[in-house]
Amino acid sequence: MGSGIGIGLLGLGTVGGGVASILQSPSERHPLVADLKLVRVAVRDLNRPRSVELPNEILTTDPAVVVNDPAVDVVVEVIGGIEPARSLILQAIAAGKSVVTANKAVIARHGEEIADAATKAGVYVLIEAAVGGGIPIIEPLKQSLGGNRINRVSGIINGTTNYILTRMAEEGAAYESVLKDAQELGYAEADPAADVDGLDAADKIAILANLAFGGSVERSAVPTAGISQLQGRDVDYAKQLGYGVKLLAVAERMKPSGEPLPLSLRVQPTLVPNDHPLAGVNGVNNAILVEGDPIGRVMFYGPGAGAGPTASAVVADILNIAGISQATQGDDRLDPLLAASSWRRCVLVDRGEIRQRHYVRFHTQDAPGVIGRIGGCFGDGGVSIQSIVQFNASKAGAEIVVITHEVSQKKMDDALQSIQALPEVSGLAAHLGCL
Ligand code: HSE
Repeated sequence: MGSGIGIGLLGLGTVGGGVASILQSPSERHPLVADLKLVRVAVRDLNRPRSVELPNEILTTDPAVVVNDPAVDVVVEVIGGIEPARSLILQAIAAGKSVVTANKAVIARHGEEIADAATKAGVYVLIEAAVGGGIPIIEPLKQSLGGNRINRVSGIINGTTNYILTRMAEEGAAYESVLKDAQELGYAEADPAADVDGLDAADKIAILANLAFGGSVERSAVPTAGISQLQGRDVDYAKQLGYGVKLLAVAERMKPSGEPLPLSLRVQPTLVPNDHPLAGVNGVNNAILVEGDPIGRVMFYGPGAGAGPTASAVVADILNIAGISQATQGDDRLDPLLAASSWRRCVLVDRGEIRQRHYVRFHTQDAPGVIGRIGGCFGDGGVSIQSIVQFNASKAGAEIVVITHEVSQKKMDDALQSIQALPEVSGLAAHLGCL
């Protein structure tokens, strides 16, 4: 690389537009930004109106032109989706170019393949924008917290669902109407299923687990539940009991540790006590709570989606590569803290072994002894109850809400099965996690 660093941008959508706009206006930013030259941009449609003005001659509809342009030193992939993004990233690496990507779906599924290729080619693939939008979390996990033994990473890592849940809780608004607003505001992915079904958060927690625990995990095995089935009344009951409902992603090491390291990962709507640090994270904001030894708890908080915040993270990665390249002047050894690295094997425990507290709501008859029988089933199954409350009792029936102490999923499932077999219980109406 010369003194100017050639940037090739794959995609000029929400994030790409944000990146281009930072690169085109370096004034009052770090002086290194002025050295970043946007030399090629791949767009889907040359005639589409854009939020940022770019010279026509740098635009192309062929992403291969960007990847193969000798003036491009760093390829920025913000197309999203699996293909052609994965192939383009691999082609850029093969051409000896470092890559910056915001693509959590590709990294969560093909991160190992990409990291291996990057290590062999002696280039970086940096992914700060893939998790938590503008929040610096990838680099802290790789570098600032490197001296810790991480025990748990948990967080609110999907802005769209947090925006929806916040408005449901504050306004009693219906899920569908708030989802529409989130899409109009540009928070939701083109396919909202990735957000509302928890898939986006599952991609992100798989990536965080890899960095926190030093080994990749099988993305498809992450137990995942989204918010599309969540009912307003559970948000309301949770509120009455002193909790907020958040789409929480959790990755934690199981005891005893071993080789491969057993990990428990999950994404699900979860009751968060009002005095917990994650409870005050509202709207499109994200927060990631890292628990480690010896640091204790450290929380990273900020805007988790949107053009500006995500572009801020992308440009930070480009600057890291540019800074190293200027400092090392062609020495092609990689900084081991910044380069992708897995240093052990990790394995996800079976869903039945995951331990947590639970919130459940049953439809029941309003008859003498129902609470006792439900309590009996839980007790017989080894599930300890923290609280049991009856709501909305009428001739039509009652709703019984139970919050348990921490218990394995297997014991919980078995107890729920015997409760659902009780003649007074007409159904399990909700089942959420609880912190
Ligand atoms: N759609 C994502 C979210 C943003 O709502 O958090 C990009 O990761």
